[in-house]
Parts: sequence; C-alpha cells; structure tokens
Amino acid sequence: MTTPQAPVAAHPRMTVIGTGYLGATHAICMAMLGFDVLGVDVDEAKVAALSAGRVPFFEPGLPERLREALDSGRLRFSTDFAEAADFGEVHFVCVGTPQASGSHAADLHFVESAFLELATRIRRKALLVGKSTVPIGTAQRITGLVQDASPIGGRLELAWNPEFLREGFAVHDTLHPDRLVFGVGSPWAEAQLRAAFAPVLEIGTPLVVADLATAELVKVAANSYLATKISYINAMAEVCEATGADVNLLATALGYDGRIGDRFLKPGLGFGGGCLPKDIRAFAHRAQELGVGQAVAFLGEVDAINTRRRVRTVDLVRELAGGSLAGVRVAALGAAFKPNSDDVRDAPALDVARMLYLEGASVTVYDPEAGENAHRAYPDLDYASSLVEAVTGADVVALLTEWDEFRSADPERLGDLVAGRRVVDGRHALDADRYRRAGWEYRALGLPSVPAGVDNIERDAVG
Ligand code: UGA
Repeated sequence: MTTPQAPVAAHPRMTVIGTGYLGATHAICMAMLGFDVLGVDVDEAKVAALSAGRVPFFEPGLPERLREALDSGRLRFSTDFAEAADFGEVHFVCVGTPQASGSHAADLHFVESAFLELATRIRRKALLVGKSTVPIGTAQRITGLVQDASPIGGRLELAWNPEFLREGFAVHDTLHPDRLVFGVGSPWAEAQLRAAFAPVLEIGTPLVVADLATAELVKVAANSYLATKISYINAMAEVCEATGADVNLLATALGYDGRIGDRFLKPGLGFGGGCLPKDIRAFAHRAQELGVGQAVAFLGEVDAINTRRRVRTVDLVRELAGGSLAGVRVAALGAAFKPNSDDVRDAPALDVARMLYLEGASVTVYDPEAGENAHRAYPDLDYASSLVEAVTGADVVALLTEWDEFRSADPERLGDLVAGRRVVDGRHALDADRYRRAGWEYRALGLPSVPAGVDNIERDAVG
C-alpha cells in the first residue's frame, strides 16, 4: 500500500477501457468535464465509429455530446493498450460482465483481460478503476493478479467505482449521479479518485468512500432492490388477477406512502435488459459460493415472478384471440427492453413476441429504434417499419414497450386499421377508458377484464 504522500495528479489524464453504453458515455462525459480522455476498445469498428462522431447505439443526447467532446480535442479513441498505458494516470475499466453460458455466474473474462492488458504495460504510478458490475471479492482478487503482473508491483493500485447509469438517461446520470461510491484500498487512491471526479463532487453529489467489497456490493444490492420492487408490484398484480382488484390503483395508493415511493412500482411485463436479470442471478450465485445463499434466496422468486409476467402476457393475447394463437395475426408493439433504448438484451417484449410465434401466431414486430437489433436476435419474426404497417390487419395488438409513439396513438385511427379491436396493454401505458370507448376489448395484467362500475374511481397510472 502507498502512503498518502504519494503525488496525486490534480487533473489526471484518463483512459476508458471498453466503449459500450457505460464506457462510451463515461469517456464522453469526462471529456465534457474538461479531462483529456482516451477511449480504448478491442472492436475496431466501434473505435472507428466513435472517432468519426457516431455513437454505435441509441442513447438520447449522446451523439451531440460526442461531437462536442471530439471538437474540444480532449477525446480520442484507440485500439492500442500500449498507448493507453502510456497516456493515462487514471484508467477506468468499463467492459461487460455478461451471464456466463450454462451458468448464472458472471463471465469475468473481459474484465480480467482488460486489467491485465494494462497492468503488464504501465510503468509509472497509476490508478486502475473498475466500473464493471462484478461479484463481491473480484476487486480484491484482481488487485493480486494485477500487482503480480505489473512491472511496478504494488505501486499500481486498484479501486472500484460502481456505475448506476440508466440507459436512456445515461448522460444525465453520469454528470448528475444520485451518489458516487469509491471503493479504495489506500488514502492515495481516494485522493486520486476525488481529483478525477472533482467537477461532479463540486456540484454537491453525495460521496460514499468504502472498502472494495462494499463498493462491489452496493451495485448488485441496488439492482437487486430495484428488481425486487418491480417483482413485488407484479406479484400483487397476480393477486389482483385472482380477486378482481386493480393493480394500478393499488400501486397509486402504495406509492403515496413516502416510505414506499412510486418509482419502480410500475406493474406490467416486468424487467429485462443487460443488467437487472443477469445481476440478480450472478448475485445469488455468488452468495451461494460465499455460504450465504439463503440470505438472497428470495431473488430466485423475484426472477420467477418476472418470468411469469411474460407467460401471462401471452395468456392474455391467447384469451383475447379466442383460446388459440394458431394463425392469429398479432401486432407486437415494441422490442427494446424499455423505451428510449435500442437494447434488446433479455427484452421482455421480444420474449413475448417469440413465445407468440412459437404458438403459431403470425407476429409483426415494430419498434421505433430497436428493429434492427431485434431482427438480428430473432430473424424468424416479421418486422414492420411503422406503427401503421404493424397494426394493419392485426387480430390482436400487444403493447410490449411503452414508447411515446404508442401511448399517443389514436385508438379510433388504429381501430380503422386492425382486423379486430383487441389490445393487450403489457405496460399499463394506454388510456384504457379511451380504448374501451372506441370499442376495443382492452386487457392488462392485474386489471379486471371488465372495469369496476364505480364512476369516481381515480385511474391515475403511477409515473
Ligand atoms: C439499471 C439500473 O436502473 C441502473 O441504476 C443501473 O446502473 C443499470 O441497470 C446497470 O446495472 O448498468 P437499466 O438496465 O438501464 O438500468 O434499466 P432500468 O431503467 O432500471 O429498467 C430495467 C427494466 O425494468 C426495464 O425493462 C423496465 O421496463 C423495467 N421496469 C422499470 C418495470 O417493469 N417497472 C418499473 O417500475 C421500472
């Protein structure tokens, strides 16, 4: 360990290893904040696109920021680790930790390789900072690997700085995070991180300085809590279905309790994406390894509730279609795992579309941004290039991702295009009364199929 007297770079040059959602956003935002940044990726096409000012995925606001950062001269991209080792004083590792094939564990292959590529080349005191989501204990283990492999040994230090950005709000969440967490092993590492995040700390962002294990745990505990909250309200939707109660009214009433709050209490098709599903599985797997599997055994139930929502959505479409899906034309609205994203990793929408197809329905998918990615993932489904094209001639419309384009569509106009006015609202995003007045059979998870006959019930959806 180093003494606090070791010099701290007041305005450190930074590298960002891995230029996916997390890394590209971090590199661009750090350059926006005035740092000199080198983004590094092994994918030459990605590096070429970013260098030319093109963001290779959909993220509102990011392309404009990329161009500004490139124009400022403070941001470059490269595939060369030697250049990165030479350039940076603080190196952020932002590569993916996907679910390992055939297991619930996280695949740490990319993380280890990124750290080692740097460690073998860095020849002066520097800080390596992991941002990827990893199982507890990884940072400690990688510190050993890195220091063994490094020509400067223990002078190369490692810290962990988990990232909490949401896709669709990536720029905002990076520049104005709810909190920063520094997992550090020495006062020098803390001081160096404080310098690297000075502009974010100056705006009053809360900071938690912790040991490495706690920093790793904050991330998976946060995502597990969010997943649990979503599955909680979806479990209540199941109870509503058995009792004729209304899950939207329930969520509204619960959400007014300040201790519960209405965020992440939106019932529907449940969570997906590249983070929540794999993180709860990896967490449960790691807890088992640590001998505390029982402490998070409930995460298995959280996962199961979430998966059931997809199956129940298919049930609703089948019910509306008259009991069988064979030959039924379904317009599947949405493919991304959430709106304002083109990400289809573990997307509930696509999973439902696939299940409908496997039961014999003829499924046409439309998503404003994720069509290409969805087509690559599931080439067997039909894809439309507009909402009008998707719904024309449909027997049942299934809203699966709540894009504004779908929320704001006119039920009368859509009604003129479909073969039958039947809609399953998988995201509780449509105005049920308006659809019913326009002659649609409207169904949603956790809502009675016939609305309660009380005129003055307030039907606000939880935002
Ligand atoms: C999530 C976390 O929210 C971020 O804080 C975290 O940094 C990120 O994972 C990560 O680990 O990198 P993200 O995957 O972008 O962010 O998506 P969320 O906005 O959390 O949504 C996840 C899923 O939950 C979506 O499928 C969404 O439709 C669903 N959801 C969300 C609900 O079903 N109900 C809700 O009330 C809220």
